[in-house]
Formats: sequence, C-alpha cells, structure tokens
Amino acid sequence: MRVAIIHVSIHHHNTAKIAEAMAASIGAECLTVAHAMERGGEDWDLVGLGSGIFFGSHHRSLLKFAERWQHPPTATFLFSTAGLPSLGWLWHRSLRSILTRRQIPILDEACYPGWDTVGPLRWIGGIQRGRPNSQDLLRAASFAQSVRRAGDVSPLFLAARSTVP
Ligand SMILES: Cc1cc2nc3c(=O)[nH]c(=O)nc-3n(C[C@H](O)[C@H](O)[C@H](O)COP(=O)(O)O)c2cc1C
Repeated sequence: MRVAIIHVSIHHHNTAKIAEAMAASIGAECLTVAHAMERGGEDWDLVGLGSGIFFGSHHRSLLKFAERWQHPPTATFLFSTAGLPSLGWLWHRSLRSILTRRQIPILDEACYPGWDTVGPLRWIGGIQRGRPNSQDLLRAASFAQSVRRAGDVSPLFLAARSTVP
C-alpha cells in the first residue's frame, strides 16, 4: 500500500514533528501540502492529512487542497496539533465535512498538543510548551501504525484492489 503524510506546519513546526514520526513508523512519504499539490495526489492509496489548528480549523491551504484534490486516495486519516487538543473533534469539522461531501473515506482522526504562542499567550511563554514531546511522538507513531493495519483489512482497499485489472 502506498502511503503519504501531507502536512502544513507554520507556527512552531509542531505538526511537522508529528508528521515525521508517523511517516517514519510506517515507511510513508512525508511531504508538505505545497509539494503534494504539484504531484496531484494520484500516487497514494492512503493519505494522512494534518496541520496546526488556526481559528478553529485546519490550515486553509490544507482545506483548499482537500477541496481541489484531483486524484484522491482510497482512504485518508486526519491529524492536527492544537493549543486545545481535547477539542480536536471540533477543530476537525471543516476538513472532515469537505472530505465527507466529496465521499473520500476517513479511517480515523487524532489531535495532539502543540506549543501555542498566539496573541497574548506569548507574554506567558505560550501554552503546551514543549509539546509535542517524545510521548506525543510515540503516540502518533502508534496511531499511524494502527491506521495502516486497519487499511490492510479494510473493505475499501479490498474493493479497490479487486477493480485493478
Ligand atoms: C493564529 C493562530 C490561531 C490559532 N487558533 C487555534 C485554535 O483555534 N484552537 C487551538 O486549539 N489552537 C489554536 N492555535 C494553536 C496552534 O494550533 C498550535 O500552536 C499548533 O500546534 C500549530 O501547529 P504548527 O506549529 O505545526 O503550525 C492557533 C495558533 C495561531 C498562531
């Protein structure tokens, strides 16, 4: 199975750390959304999509990518880093709804803590300082492995394989 992790990480490179840990744990390609746009996306069966959370949703360039994805994969999984990761289910709503509307399956989702110094938070050194930490990276690696394993037995992939001549 060809797997890629496509990410945007601009605030403190928090999401890039998570993306790299995921990619290394499952032997996936790890690339930025700008790079993925150039490639068109036809090269992958399973794609993890992630960014920091900005004003309540994934980064707009990732949302735009999902909107315009010309060759979406058989399935995706979503991830993010955020100052308030316990609200990940809420922060993922925009990206989730774009993929759902386009009937691109989502196998699973995860949101991790990310150092956040937005606005006045910088005067106190931010929140989630030091995150993601090594434990978060281990959790992200194990999450990616479990999604990858789920992909192996998912009827979505079995169906996709059976249509290949
Ligand atoms: C302009 C801005 C807006 C943000 N909005 C949110 C938000 O709505 N909810 C949240 O939990 N974190 C928010 N954050 C925190 C980021 O999601 C967090 O720092 C994330 O880890 C950044 O990822 P990155 O370093 O990979 O870009 C915001 C940060 C910035 C700079």
